[in-house]
Amino acid sequence: MDKHTVRGAILPAKEAIEAIHRVDLASPIEIPDFPSDADPANISADERAFLHAEIKRLKKEKNALVLAHNYMPRDVQDAADVVGDSLYLAQVGRASDANILVEAAVLFMNQILSIMKKPHQKVLAPHLGALCSLAAHADAGKIRAWKAAHPGGKVISYVNTYIDVKAESDYCCASANAAKVVQHVIKTYPSAPLLFLPDVYLGFYAAKLLEEMGESLDRLYLMMGACHVHDGIRPYHIEEKLLEYPGAAAVIHPECGCTSACMTKVREGKVAADMMQFRSTQGMVKFVKESPAQVIIMATEVDNAYPVSKAAPGKTIIPASREARCAFMKQNTLKNLYEALRDEKYVITVDPKLAKRARKPIERMLDIV
Ligand code: 13P
Ligand code: SF4
Repeated sequence: MDKHTVRGAILPAKEAIEAIHRVDLASPIEIPDFPSDADPANISADERAFLHAEIKRLKKEKNALVLAHNYMPRDVQDAADVVGDSLYLAQVGRASDANILVEAAVLFMNQILSIMKKPHQKVLAPHLGALCSLAAHADAGKIRAWKAAHPGGKVISYVNTYIDVKAESDYCCASANAAKVVQHVIKTYPSAPLLFLPDVYLGFYAAKLLEEMGESLDRLYLMMGACHVHDGIRPYHIEEKLLEYPGAAAVIHPECGCTSACMTKVREGKVAADMMQFRSTQGMVKFVKESPAQVIIMATEVDNAYPVSKAAPGKTIIPASREARCAFMKQNTLKNLYEALRDEKYVITVDPKLAKRARKPIERMLDIV
């Protein structure tokens, strides 16, 4: 199998799972450099105080709400009104009546706010280079071809997709509710072919749910996509950390390159289920607070340690890999967040025809919780 023809391809689930570790799932788009001020240590205390004060003043003056993803630099999280995972930010954004929604995250999350916004609202993103390697794997044309070949087929798109892909989908889901959405679709369409995309590790997770519900994998298709940051977290990272910290629990984002191997270990009873869990970034906050373990291995982007540590200050959080940093998310900085509010840029707009079609699957994602 040629790895370059397989990356982004749609395969029957069994074939996709068998190919997971043979396919090069590297980013199909260029990964930007980290701006120097993505590291809060590179901003002076005076500048930080000025930016925080100005952001506070502008929020009030313009009736703006600032939303920040859990992977934002610490100082951006500190300036935000709301910090959370992709699902939570979309839910809070949908419910808000603020005149301006500024979201420090990545473009597919900004697009969701733009699709769901009220007529008087403006959606802003601090930087237009905040893309996503996982979303870049998904191609709307391939989905249309799959639907033509599988009449009656249902498409479940992960939240990390752009509006053209969501417009081809029946359902969207986020990591926080992937299990619920997939179970809902399996039950609602008992014999329809199903396509889950674009993340093959989350696809593996969907496959396990299908099996747990006593169904064959024959009707499930997966796309060979991955996030370059999470794909880099391999099973050995978890094994090494568990050896280094005996008694630690592990919490793993289901986009990780270690997901299939770690889930298999739990299923085979080699690791207790309460000591190894698969959660969204926000789900990790809850898990760390509730777990009796004092040390938690966290397999996701390193800045997620900030909201997790804030919520559970007595616990020790050990990133599974310190290399797991998302350069796309880090295009957002305290400085460009301030400039976004000050200059009311960059306004995120969406094609109205695509928005109309993408709205239904997004609403389903927001409502199945
Ligand atoms: P969450 O839905 O957990 O926020 O994940 C989104 C994402 O991009 C993770 O890399
Ligand atoms: Fe996309 Fe990965 Fe960055 Fe999340 S961490 S925004 S999936 S590239």
